Amino acid sequence: MCGIVGVLGNHEAAPILVEALKRLEYRGYDSAGIATVNNGTLRRRRAVGKLVNLSDLLVHEPLAGKSGIGHTRWATHGAPSVSNAHPHRAGAVAVVHNGIIENYKELRAELLNCGMEFRTETDTETVALMTERYLKEGLTPVDAAFTTLNQLEGAFALAFLFDGEEDLIIAARKGSPLAIGHGDGEMFVGSDAIALAPLTDRITYLEEGDRAVVTRAGAEIRNAQGDLVNRETKTIQIDAAQVDKAGHKHFMAKEIAEQPQVIAEAIRHYLPVEEDTVRLPGEVDFSQVDRLTMVACGTAYYACVTAKYWFEQIARLPVEVDIASEFRYREPPVPAKTLALFVSQSGETADTLAALRYCQEKADKILSVVNVPESSIARESDLALPIFAGPEIGVASTKAFTCQLTVLLALALKAACDRGHLSPEDMAGYATAIRGLPNVLSAALEQNEAIRQAAQKVSEARDVLFLGRGLMYPLALEGALKLKEISYIHAEAYASGELKHGPIALIDKNMPVVVLTPRDSLFDKSVSNMQEVLARKGKVLMISDQDGIDEAGDDVWCAIRMPKVKEALSPILYAIPAQLLAYHTAVAKGTDVDQPRNLAKSVTVE
Ligand code: AGP
Repeated sequence: MCGIVGVLGNHEAAPILVEALKRLEYRGYDSAGIATVNNGTLRRRRAVGKLVNLSDLLVHEPLAGKSGIGHTRWATHGAPSVSNAHPHRAGAVAVVHNGIIENYKELRAELLNCGMEFRTETDTETVALMTERYLKEGLTPVDAAFTTLNQLEGAFALAFLFDGEEDLIIAARKGSPLAIGHGDGEMFVGSDAIALAPLTDRITYLEEGDRAVVTRAGAEIRNAQGDLVNRETKTIQIDAAQVDKAGHKHFMAKEIAEQPQVIAEAIRHYLPVEEDTVRLPGEVDFSQVDRLTMVACGTAYYACVTAKYWFEQIARLPVEVDIASEFRYREPPVPAKTLALFVSQSGETADTLAALRYCQEKADKILSVVNVPESSIARESDLALPIFAGPEIGVASTKAFTCQLTVLLALALKAACDRGHLSPEDMAGYATAIRGLPNVLSAALEQNEAIRQAAQKVSEARDVLFLGRGLMYPLALEGALKLKEISYIHAEAYASGELKHGPIALIDKNMPVVVLTPRDSLFDKSVSNMQEVLARKGKVLMISDQDGIDEAGDDVWCAIRMPKVKEALSPILYAIPAQLLAYHTAVAKGTDVDQPRNLAKSVTVE
């Protein structure tokens, strides 16, 4: 998704803007640009491709000025090009935008009728031209921006900069997050706190519909109705160490390696050592819940599919799991005593947020499991459960996934206790196994080199099939997603039991088949499916524990050995080899591991 930054500073703005945009690179982009006001004059510099191209341009064509806005664009309307790159300018105003203006065609027609001329295909240019039109009609910059904002429909975060105005940025949010940063005699605007981390830790998150008049003296915030409002300024702890690679080649590698530590942090919050009971940051009584609906996208959705097994098998609670983009438009009935749960790393995914809003006034309670406690999804939930993964920069989700699973497992155990399906002894057994997870994950990470070697062979494949049964089925789905999204190899996943119902036709000597199968209660079934693959000269990459490999690993193409773990915890453990296999395959193929093509870290548009 696009990234927005703004500075009203006491130093040259251009390098500050570019540095802040670098911290937003993880969101995915295909062009970038900045605009500054210097001695009252507004100027722009824009470049296609990576930020280094913009930096190079600024070396040859520097931009002076201590006030400015910047943008990384993930193309929605209009191909990646300099002319479509932000900031978009019309006369005395420049605008940067994250989101989609859904009524831009009507507004565009209206402006064309007024004789305004368009130079791009973007919806954002409409915002700049409309503001310019109001400036020409004599409105002040603030009134021109606000009048424009009142006519926009859709999802947007916007920042406006004006010719002749060295101490003014207008910021607005509707559907896409936007933060105001408070410095000492300086002010900042950013899509998230990560972008502003080196500049300030004092952050005010705009609420839905807010618009802010920002000057070096501070920010005057009004709601959509135009009323002055106070929004809380928080001190956000994002130190530089959390958003650099810490010696790893990629953020993804760092975030895979961090999993023992961050999962230990999640466990510390939800299963405090001094007691064998689950502790939540708020009241949830599952004895009053007849049905759980879980909704998410992508990897977060696979976390929900995994959790379905836990809630149903341990807590005996009926569960529906849905992809947010389907749920929101199918508009399913939400019966009484339904608990709705939304999982999202960013907490800003448009489809998941829309699904949450659909459930407001319908579900008994709305919970969310998020990595950004200040995010829209968190703030619109009755109770948000943080996962404590720390900033996840790699576009492919790794540590957030295993932290989501850890929190969801704790929640399922809470549900089981509330509903009388888990004895204190069994709860203590789960608590002990969960507290042992960090060490088990560390042992799994020691298989890195074996997995890297397997990945060299997988990287030559055109297609890969992932198979799993029971709790390993959603893991197979996640493993296939990881591989395809960063290595660009086509991969798909099936429940092992489905193989005979069609996918077995795919099996040949060229296609690796990754079989996720710990020596668990379904192992014999999984092995018989694996034998069906081997019998057809399929190349099986078996991921199991030593017992499983000893028992059934003789004829496989490749075997990855995992430590033993309590069966219910196997999805959290087996995520490690799935992530490492995808990572090393992508490295072998030379793709952009942290910012894969076409992808964005947070999909804030539908
Ligand atoms: C994960 O590897 C993907 N990048 C993507 O599927 C992601 O999980 C999905 O977009 C949901 O994002 P969220 O967790 O921030 O809502």
